[in-house]
Amino acid sequence: MTEPFEAVLEVMATARTIHRYLPDPVPEKDLGRILYAATRAPSGSNSQPFRFVVLRDGERASAAKALLAESFRSQWSRKSSNEGWDRGSGLDRDSPKARSARAMRQFVDGFERIPVVVLACILRFHPPNPYEGASIYPACQNLLLAARALGYGACFSVWHLPVEDRLKAMLDIPEHAAISLTITVGRPAGRHGPLRRRPVRDLVYDDAWEQSAAWVQDPPGSRFSRSGPPGARRFRPPSVAERDLK
Ligand SMILES: Cc1cc2nc3c(=O)[nH]c(=O)nc-3n(C[C@H](O)[C@H](O)[C@H](O)COP(=O)(O)O)c2cc1C
Repeated sequence: MTEPFEAVLEVMATARTIHRYLPDPVPEKDLGRILYAATRAPSGSNSQPFRFVVLRDGERASAAKALLAESFRSQWSRKSSNEGWDRGSGLDRDSPKARSARAMRQFVDGFERIPVVVLACILRFHPPNPYEGASIYPACQNLLLAARALGYGACFSVWHLPVEDRLKAMLDIPEHAAISLTITVGRPAGRHGPLRRRPVRDLVYDDAWEQSAAWVQDPPGSRFSRSGPPGARRFRPPSVAERDLK
């Protein structure tokens, strides 16, 4: 029998961001379970200051998806040109960069056909609290993991920002709520996971900053990424894991 830890880790380690979706609708039974899981997340003082607006194919939902689609297309065009996604290795059709760029293009071009789009909204704190996001993002992650556990894929995005005010007006989202994330959900057109992340020892310190935690290790078969905040990359000394290899 699979141990609960192994089962949970399998879901976490394969919950990749999905950009390519099949158009199949998500049955309400599954969608209900995914949203139920989301709402079981912890929040400050158990205040649950999050609300999820689910967009499927109703009249207002379709109009909101069309507006989002416009914004997603322009945000991707801007990002891909600023970051040179169509330059360098991106010119080679078979490179990972070119494949990712094609998936992104498919994502934004087919946005209206993604079966479910969830607007994760936060009820703003008064006075504004810099930590308010900490009370909504656990719920978003629960949603992502529950979707993965049922065989669906999801993507977090902030590309609603340029049209947030218009969306709020269109969907009667009150002044005191803000859209923290747009989350797409559907059956993935390709395969799920594995995730690529930095080695765990780069990210976990024991006792004090940058003190290696000898007792953590990546399980066999882990895949690694080297990306991180630009500042950290620019100034980064060799990682703890790299030093351990020397
Ligand atoms: C706060 C947040 C904002 C994100 N915004 C976007 C976005 O606007 N567009 C997008 O395609 N992906 C977005 N992502 C997805 C990340 O790019 C993705 O999680 C990351 O590249 C790692 O990919 P993986 O989850 O497949 O491993 C966002 C993720 C987070 C947590």
